[in-house]
Amino acid sequence: MKRCRKCGERAVIYMRQHRLALCKEHYLEWFVEQTARTIRKYRMFTKHDRVLVAVSGGKDSLALWDVLWRLGYQADGLYIGLGIDGGIAYSDRSREVVEAFAQERGLHLIVEDVPTLYGESIPEMARRTHRGRGKPCSVCGLVKRHIMNRVARDHGYTVLATGHNLDDEAAVLFANVMTWQVGYLARQDPVLPARDGLVKKVKPFFRFYERETAAYALLRGIAYIYDECPFAQGARSIYFKEVLNRLEEERPGTKLQFFLGFLKAKKQGAFAAIQEQAEGELHACEVCGQPTTAPGRCAFCRLVTPLTSPTPTPSP
Ligand code: AMP
Ligand code: FES
Ligand code: ZN
Ligand code: ZN
Repeated sequence: MKRCRKCGERAVIYMRQHRLALCKEHYLEWFVEQTARTIRKYRMFTKHDRVLVAVSGGKDSLALWDVLWRLGYQADGLYIGLGIDGGIAYSDRSREVVEAFAQERGLHLIVEDVPTLYGESIPEMARRTHRGRGKPCSVCGLVKRHIMNRVARDHGYTVLATGHNLDDEAAVLFANVMTWQVGYLARQDPVLPARDGLVKKVKPFFRFYERETAAYALLRGIAYIYDECPFAQGARSIYFKEVLNRLEEERPGTKLQFFLGFLKAKKQGAFAAIQEQAEGELHACEVCGQPTTAPGRCAFCRLVTPLTSPTPTPSP
């Protein structure tokens, strides 16, 4: 049995990559401190920022909102209703969980419901446009990015935070390396500064392993949705996560080294030559005013038209 490094009590978690065992009390403390350090070290935001946390109802984003609240940041939540049922009422249950979380803590939550706003659920949009080879995930990603940025801009938030953890980030990096998507590599970063109408985006949990965010949520007694999105099954990212877990099993710390090594190489200018090109020039969409790479209508407006869009956001 492992003992807590701080107090010698029975440990509830052992993190092999840090050779660190902690009891419940000290783990909860450590997790919050580590998040605060990451936020400061990578200059994500300060107490003066108005942070919008995108919360899905899963463990990561609810744990993130909980930690930011405990640390005293000004953090409101945004839940996007996607209209996904999948036989388990996925979206309805997620919304209930997020609303209960906010209510219990007296936190402000913004809810944007896609079927109500645009007359169609995400799977319906994907079917109508034949996008994503039977899977709505690419349409879903596009719609979520659009709504997150619109809400953050319209309500004056300076930073948008998501619950992505190290397993998520390392799997995306792995996929991008396997196919040498240098443009994506140049843009992948836990901190994307604001530019041309895009709100600053941060991932304060990017150094935590998935089991660490899960442990925090469980030990804090946060009620969250255990199910993954029903469309996530068989996704390529899950395969890459499994491969990375096998490497991690043999060599603890592999995932962290892989991702931090990438950030270091990037800082040293490994992708500098293509950075500007990868980011591209941004224009305001002629319908909604949100930034888009090509002049004219943005990908979101092309997707939802001929359905009506909500009130256009004025250009900055
Ligand atoms: P995922 O792509 O489902 O792994 O989610 C990554 C992050 O995106 C989560 O940690 C949340 O911060 C955010 N997110 C995902 N789904 C939603 C949603 N329906 N509403 C708000 N934020 C979401
Ligand atoms: Fe969007 Fe699964 S398709 S969360
Ligand atoms: Zn202890
Ligand atoms: Zn648009």
